[in-house]
Amino acid sequence: MTTRIGVDPSILEKLQDIVSKDREPGSMRSWNSAWLNSATPWEGGQAQPPLQHLLESCEIDFPRSGTALVPGCGKGHDLIVINSLLGLQVLGVDFAPKAIETARNHLENTVPELIKGENIRLQQVDFFELEGSYDLVFFQALQPEMRSKWGAQMYQLVKPGGYIIILAFPTNAPLNRGPPFGIEQNTHAQFLGGGGWEKVLDRVPEKSSTTHVGIERLLVFKRLADQ
Ligand SMILES: C[S@@+](CC[C@H](N)C(=O)[O-])C[C@H]1O[C@@H](n2cnc3c(N)ncnc32)[C@H](O)[C@@H]1O
Repeated sequence: MTTRIGVDPSILEKLQDIVSKDREPGSMRSWNSAWLNSATPWEGGQAQPPLQHLLESCEIDFPRSGTALVPGCGKGHDLIVINSLLGLQVLGVDFAPKAIETARNHLENTVPELIKGENIRLQQVDFFELEGSYDLVFFQALQPEMRSKWGAQMYQLVKPGGYIIILAFPTNAPLNRGPPFGIEQNTHAQFLGGGGWEKVLDRVPEKSSTTHVGIERLLVFKRLADQ
């Protein structure tokens, strides 16, 4: 049996119970608890197909040197794809210690040379406390309580001329019940604000994982040079 967002409803319910019914919904403790209890329905054992397909297509002239950031990196599959297809160094961050431990184990087993050579690095930190300047950011989850702060933080983190690739999911679910929380078509543009960004892509991706077909959008924004 599957729900409208295509994953086992019992795992989804477990995740929602842990993360949204916590006394601080969406806190680091609640997400860590989801990891500790294997309530991780997003874990598909592969990089996000829309990301991989977009990078392989060379449709957009993404940077080929510098550093990429993946906030909420989970187990780290997307880090490998960004490093191997663009050659960027990649920093994966997640505020849940169990997520970082899981990612470290996974990456040390599958791509030990990338971890040893620091082509891929991991850091346990809250996205909103992160500092630095990045050429590319790949971003997915956007909890409602994060949304107002999200645009300003992205502006701080992305270099002028740099890009954000966003996988917006799910486009068919309630906005206030999650995770995953529903996302409307213009949500990201709205929170990035009018100036400072050029939207260079916004479409239903050609390739999606089986649980995401038709209910996600792929967006790319380029940060304009400072005026
Ligand atoms: C839905 S999971 C997605 C994981 C990964 N991107 C994937 O697709 O496999 C969201 C992840 O974001 C992390 N997260 C949520 N809020 C965060 C924050 N403010 N700072 C850093 N990580 C955060 C959670 O711990 C969780 O691992």
